[in-house]
Amino acid sequence: YEIYLGGMTGAIPRLPTDLTRLEELTERRLGPGPVGYVAGGAGDGSTARANRAALRRRRIVPRMLRDVHERDLSVEVLGRTLPAPLALAPVGVLSILHPDAEPAAARAAAAQGVPYILSSASSTPLEQVAEAMGDAERWFQLYWAKDREVTRSFLDRAKRAGFSVLVVTLDTPLLAWRPRDLDQAYLPFLHGVGTANYFTDPAFRAGLARPVHEDPDAAVLHFVGMFADPGKTWPDLAFLREQWDGPIVLKGVLHPDDARLAAEAGMDGVVVSNHGGRQVAGSVAAADALPRVAEAVGDRLTVLFDSGIRTGDDIVKALALGARAVLVGRPYAYGLALDGQAGVEHVVRCLLAELDLTLALSGHATPGSVSAADLVEDGA
Ligand code: FNR
Repeated sequence: YEIYLGGMTGAIPRLPTDLTRLEELTERRLGPGPVGYVAGGAGDGSTARANRAALRRRRIVPRMLRDVHERDLSVEVLGRTLPAPLALAPVGVLSILHPDAEPAAARAAAAQGVPYILSSASSTPLEQVAEAMGDAERWFQLYWAKDREVTRSFLDRAKRAGFSVLVVTLDTPLLAWRPRDLDQAYLPFLHGVGTANYFTDPAFRAGLARPVHEDPDAAVLHFVGMFADPGKTWPDLAFLREQWDGPIVLKGVLHPDDARLAAEAGMDGVVVSNHGGRQVAGSVAAADALPRVAEAVGDRLTVLFDSGIRTGDDIVKALALGARAVLVGRPYAYGLALDGQAGVEHVVRCLLAELDLTLALSGHATPGSVSAADLVEDGA
């Protein structure tokens, strides 16, 4: 309500409360290279657009007179109580957008009480980000390296730095065909800083013939070779299960059979996601994949969702389609680009405020009371 009261007393927020406007503002501020990196999708961009369309097509049917005076947004996720069904998705190389980068995003998330999922491709070593997180929940996203020693080293570092939840991204065994990056020659990993988390890793460095500063190009090539590993299969997950005691969540699951395989491999959750439309051009919209995955494993695994969330009502729709909580990517990246930590906090506060209002106005006092029966599809 602070945002609302501010508006009533004439205090204009520094950033717009319609978060869909942030991309355009960031483009004006930073130019096409950095924005292309964030906004860009695979192929002709139609998957990213389909993600939005699949959420928009679904409409909430509000209920009246259901006493929503006392509301509680908290949810149980992976044995933890989160204050709201929202977390910040892993987004790599944030130094491209703002010099305060990952520590600023992590501090913003901690201040608002939502989990921040730190990317393996962070431009800040994970130990430094962990410090910025204070007492907040620490979730670490793994790009599962080709070399087992590097993977083991990342997991050991993450454990030592107090990360408890591991999010393993499966949809990026190769970087996709992303024309906006290719046309701008803007492959962020090739901007030295982008790989700081790797470049500081002892196992990664051990694989280099010469130190990073003496031959940065060779280090980047080594990184690319480490990152790309299209040879993995489901039994390989046993290695991660042995190495990590806490919950493991597989990110990038779209097919219900893959979700079943995740359950059989002893995983704790899945993120139904198409990487924000950045990997498989022409892939199913994430919101269209969600109900089938939730139906297949919702009773066994924690089902999370991302790809296309921009507003509070999008979150309500994802809950109705079977998600326990959602992650949001691009909006907070733009918030960071425009106003550092305060910009990320603005994005989180807007999403939470709009979620709370949308739930209340639709007749729900808690996220758990939303179900498939609360949605219709356009034209239905
Ligand atoms: C990502 N995403 C991502 N995912 C991941 O597991 N590790 C990573 O390092 C990154 N990096 C990354 C960079 C940028 C610029 C974007 C936009 C996305 C994917 C991210 O976690 C999430 O799946 C999507 O961003 C969700 O879609 P929306 O919210 O951006 O539509």
